[in-house]
Amino acid sequence: MCRVIAVSNQKGGVGKTVSCVNLGIGLAQEGKKVLLIDADPQGSLTISLGYEEPDEMEYSLATLMMNIVNDEKLNIEKTILHHKEGVDLIPANIELSAIEVSLVNTMSRELILRSMVDRLRHNKTVCISCEKGKK
Ligand SMILES: Nc1ncnc2c1ncn2[C@@H]1O[C@H](COP(=O)(O)OP(=O)(O)OP(=O)(O)O)[C@@H](O)[C@H]1O
Ligand SMILES: [Mg+2]
Repeated sequence: MCRVIAVSNQKGGVGKTVSCVNLGIGLAQEGKKVLLIDADPQGSLTISLGYEEPDEMEYSLATLMMNIVNDEKLNIEKTILHHKEGVDLIPANIELSAIEVSLVNTMSRELILRSMVDRLRHNKTVCISCEKGKK
């Protein structure tokens, strides 16, 4: 079974990222295949899993979203990280902010993340850590 859980709240600093990481790792420990998606350009989820310099990462959520926009094959091998706690992670960094601005005139831009998740969700639990104020 697959399920997509987005952890979001209007307010900052209320535990969205911490909830997402603990939920994801807890479900992985119960034997679920878990994909964590950091959807915050601050990269807090990425950092909390030990990737200390997200802005130095060449491949991130922004890469996969641009793959969708450009109708390209998803660059999965280089982007999805396999963490020792048994979860996969799509990291995020400041690139996510940059593409948000560049997509301002793109049709159906609100559906890009959904299309990407639909391509990856098969048989997995997907937990998305959202940026404050984003749903
Ligand atoms: N249940 C908890 N008990 C105590 N401290 C917590 C708990 N959940 C989160 N925290 C602490 O609260 C702070 C904010 O948590 P977190 O980064 O998860 O919030 P956030 O909502 O993702 O923030 P942001 O809006 O910046 O993304 C962190 O220092 C975290 O360690
Ligand atoms: Mg957060």
